[in-house]
Amino acid sequence: MKKLAVLISGGGTNLQAIIDAINNKIIDAKIEIVISNKENAYGLVRAKKESIDTLCLLKRNYDSLIDYDKQIISELQKRDIDLVVLAGYLNILTKDFISLYDKKIINIHPSLIPSFCGYGYYGEKVHKAVIKSGVKFTGATTHFVDENIDAGAIISQEIVKVDFEDDYKSIAKKVLEKEHILLVKTIKAFCEDKIIFDNNKAFIKED
Ligand code: GRF
Repeated sequence: MKKLAVLISGGGTNLQAIIDAINNKIIDAKIEIVISNKENAYGLVRAKKESIDTLCLLKRNYDSLIDYDKQIISELQKRDIDLVVLAGYLNILTKDFISLYDKKIINIHPSLIPSFCGYGYYGEKVHKAVIKSGVKFTGATTHFVDENIDAGAIISQEIVKVDFEDDYKSIAKKVLEKEHILLVKTIKAFCEDKIIFDNNKAFIKED
């Protein structure tokens, strides 16, 4: 059974989707710890309701991002974590963290990477840019995390149609629903060793 660590910064609906998938035996894994960089992240409440270990690490208590990530790495190593899931986690990871967990850190991004991603593209900023651009489709992407922002190997994507009457709020809602489906599908594939690589491109091996 794979051991997961989920890193959050906010409401934790993606975390909840993972919790529900594990409880419904869709994913064979255990969330060993939920770590937040925000004290008021509702995702911490969701974890506590499931008696999942939680940890809130505040950047202001560390001299540097390197020291901050060293604390996280120590918690992960203590628990022999197999997969780190960034579920709305807004900190940029240090190179040491990423290299230690190469192809073992998965992020969910609320657009079709490589569009509307990278530095400054998070939360509603993504969806406002989507509406402003006039694109007819957006969606969500899961990808492995590398040292560039939102640029690691894409694992899977879900698309969402942008309708005439959509605004950034309605798109955000449609995309978030797809994120939950996509993140569960991706974590399930990882836990079943069904993510394969071909020339640094990742694919989920279909049954
Ligand atoms: C989601 O839109 C996710 O794509 C982005 O941050 C948001 C997190 O939402 N990375 P939640 O905290 O999981 O509800």
